[in-house]
Amino acid sequence: MGYGKKIYDMATDRIAQRKLKAEKDADRRRAEIYKAFPRTKELEQQIATSGIRAARAVLNGGNVAENVRKLKVENLALQAELSGILISNGYSVRALEPYYSCPKCGDTGYCEENGKTVVCQCLKQMLITCACEELNKNAPLSLSTFESFNPEYYDKRVDSSVGISPYNQIQKIFSYCKNYAQNFNVNSKSLLMKGSTGLGKTHLSLAIANEVIKKGFGVIYATAPKLTQEFEKQFRSKGAEEYQITDMLIDCDLLIVDDLGTEFQTKYYTAQLYNTFNSRMLQDKPIIINTNLTMHELEKSYSQRFVSRVCGNAERLDFLGTDIRIRKK
Ligand SMILES: Nc1ncnc2c1ncn2[C@@H]1O[C@H](COP(=O)(O)OP(=O)(O)O)[C@@H](O)[C@H]1O
Ligand SMILES: [Mg+2]
Ligand SMILES: [Zn+2]
Repeated sequence: MGYGKKIYDMATDRIAQRKLKAEKDADRRRAEIYKAFPRTKELEQQIATSGIRAARAVLNGGNVAENVRKLKVENLALQAELSGILISNGYSVRALEPYYSCPKCGDTGYCEENGKTVVCQCLKQMLITCACEELNKNAPLSLSTFESFNPEYYDKRVDSSVGISPYNQIQKIFSYCKNYAQNFNVNSKSLLMKGSTGLGKTHLSLAIANEVIKKGFGVIYATAPKLTQEFEKQFRSKGAEEYQITDMLIDCDLLIVDDLGTEFQTKYYTAQLYNTFNSRMLQDKPIIINTNLTMHELEKSYSQRFVSRVCGNAERLDFLGTDIRIRKK
């Protein structure tokens, strides 16, 4: 899939920064080690030139096999001495080399696979992270956290129609969401947050988003009306856009669709939405859906099959009570 130049530059730049930092740190460590244990410098130089000595032994003739064997033994001894100095002084055996974030590609973003150069997993992940950041630029992420969520706002009287108080219900939902965020992985369950306006659905889903982003996952938060706009843009640009929104929505680790049911639906929009949800479900990738609609209203708005598929997969969280914004005052 294509991400466009802007996202690509952003991602490769960050990987390059990692590489630079790892190498700078290694230079600093090396200088420190050489200064404290000058023998390490000698050893490194001798190890580095052992190849030349082996070549010379071959060229000089005589008992080549025996001479090369001796050099090998010598080389191993040099390496053992160097490792010994490093370890006994509290360093890692690899302390003279850079500690790359991704040892597989050495923070270059590319690695060799079956004789071919391919994009490394770390660059793929960074592309997703950068693309998500771009998409979330205008999302109100920072204000809604678990810390700023207060279960005390909910009514402690039992709601006779459901047999539980809004307070007890939100306690359950609150701890479920905290656990969910804490244990999040790419195959976590999907969630369906239902309930009328002002009960904290958006707040808790953003709190989850914040935690999951901190863990380094790619998260996209979008309201359904915003999705309509994005799909419209994609439709009008006929794929010439920087990146295809649908690909991003499918590829990210967690997709949060807020206010489902409030958007204006077009044929293209519904097709893209179904495609997105379906593709994610096929890959067991989680979606969090928030809606003010009842199941019946959802089925009227979208196809019944779609609703039962999406909702059948998800953990349902029913928010109870009356608008928190009024109770907060
Ligand atoms: N339990 C809560 N503690 C603190 N603030 C809350 C709580 N529930 C909702 N809010 C705040 O009230 C407003 C409305 O909540 P929101 O999450 O948007 O509700 P919903 O998405 O269910 O309509 C937001 O500003 C939100 O931060
Ligand atoms: Mg909301
Ligand atoms: Zn890598």
